[in-house]
Amino acid sequence: MRTVAIIPAAGKGRRMGADKALLDLGGLTAMERIARSLESAGVDEMLVVRSREALPLPPLPIAHRIVTVFGDGDMADSLRAAEQEVSPACDVVLVLPVDHALVESDTIAAVIAAAHREGVAIARPSFRGKPGHPVAMRRGAFAEIQQKGTVLRDLVRKEPSRVRDVPTANAWTVADLDEPADLEAARAWIAAVPATVVEQMRQHRSRRSFRPEALAEGQIERLVDAARHASTSSFIQAYAVIAVQDESRRRAIAALCADQKHIVEAPVFLAVCADLHKLAECCRAHGQTLQAQSFELFLQATVDAALLGQNLALAAESEGLGICMIGAARNHPVQIAQLLELPEHCYVVFGMAIGRPADDPVARGRMPLPGVLHWEAYDRSCLAAALAGADAGMKEWARRCNERGGYQGRPVKLDKGWQDRMAQLWGGTSEYVKSRAVLIEELRQLGFGLE
Ligand SMILES: Cc1cc2nc3c(=O)[nH]c(=O)nc-3n(C[C@H](O)[C@H](O)[C@H](O)COP(=O)(O)O)c2cc1C
Repeated sequence: MRTVAIIPAAGKGRRMGADKALLDLGGLTAMERIARSLESAGVDEMLVVRSREALPLPPLPIAHRIVTVFGDGDMADSLRAAEQEVSPACDVVLVLPVDHALVESDTIAAVIAAAHREGVAIARPSFRGKPGHPVAMRRGAFAEIQQKGTVLRDLVRKEPSRVRDVPTANAWTVADLDEPADLEAARAWIAAVPATVVEQMRQHRSRRSFRPEALAEGQIERLVDAARHASTSSFIQAYAVIAVQDESRRRAIAALCADQKHIVEAPVFLAVCADLHKLAECCRAHGQTLQAQSFELFLQATVDAALLGQNLALAAESEGLGICMIGAARNHPVQIAQLLELPEHCYVVFGMAIGRPADDPVARGRMPLPGVLHWEAYDRSCLAAALAGADAGMKEWARRCNERGGYQGRPVKLDKGWQDRMAQLWGGTSEYVKSRAVLIEELRQLGFGLE
């Protein structure tokens, strides 16, 4: 499954009085914004249509090619020129005019997903019932643009039954950047409107370098307080968070967590714990004994802690912070429990380095959605394509990391896909599994029976 986006940006921008591709939209040019949104939506390549005289574009964070056209940047001519450059391996073509640079990645991903559905050839977003951009088309449907005199609208009108509208909350799907007043409105919108929750989720990247500044006063309290409103199994609230600011303690924690430097660099380390101690106290106060041997109870507490942790990550990211979860906090569960003075029936499920991010990592993306979302029953027929997509995504991530000097300063192997890595991590020769051989024993020492 390969998606190519075509960005018509060949117009002279006469009414705007400027080249729209290079407009400054909140510190990024319009084209950089588009490239970021496409990257986050999992688009494979961008074809940017530019006039012969256009100024060069800034570096873009996604594979791209420039298609040059002559004349005044007529949209249909631009699309015809770009269509010839779309590889036969491409399934879906997305047309995103530069005028709609403020369309976000969740909208892009939603129209692409809709275009993949059975019986659908064309999908477009709608805002309050009005159809807009970008339009996602199956490769075959888009090829119809080559018929003489055909414009994009004709493809949509030709056969309404093959078109799907996808409702969206983003008004910039229907409003475009045409005149200076539109630009002013766009800049005001960027300054005033936070990303939607869905958009923010899609923008997640683990951050592994942090600025030294402390977090704002009261910020940790506010974030943890919000995070603990996650659902909790049977209302047991079986979690605790230990916030560690003290540098020498963070160094000691890092030493127990494979010396990960981001634990020391971030101003705060949060230990997200499954905590049955409070339930043990309830039982004791009522003349009972906690069923601490129960595997189900262990699972409930662990799930509760994970839900809190992910809520916390989202809350932090919504305030401009970056996080890296630290599963290595289970490398030495007993020692870390001693260091944090945890009571019995309490263990660190994972840690979280949190602070103002100082890096800009390449997003990892995720495997194609059909590998995860099934309708009505598990559909194995999609798996081969989804796993191949995961391999391709991993290799593309490696290529882009290497373009920027590697991952964590080291080159990434370009020929290793996701499946290969997972087999190495979890197959018969797994070093990781060996290193966790004593985990059950250590959890038992901490008061979890796991029966
Ligand atoms: C429970 C958990 C534990 C993790 N532990 C670590 C860790 O110890 N060190 C680290 O650098 N990243 C850790 N990660 C981050 C993952 O490597 C990362 O989420 C994954 O590679 C996907 O990348 P992304 O978060 O940038 O999308 C952890 C993630 C989770 C969910």
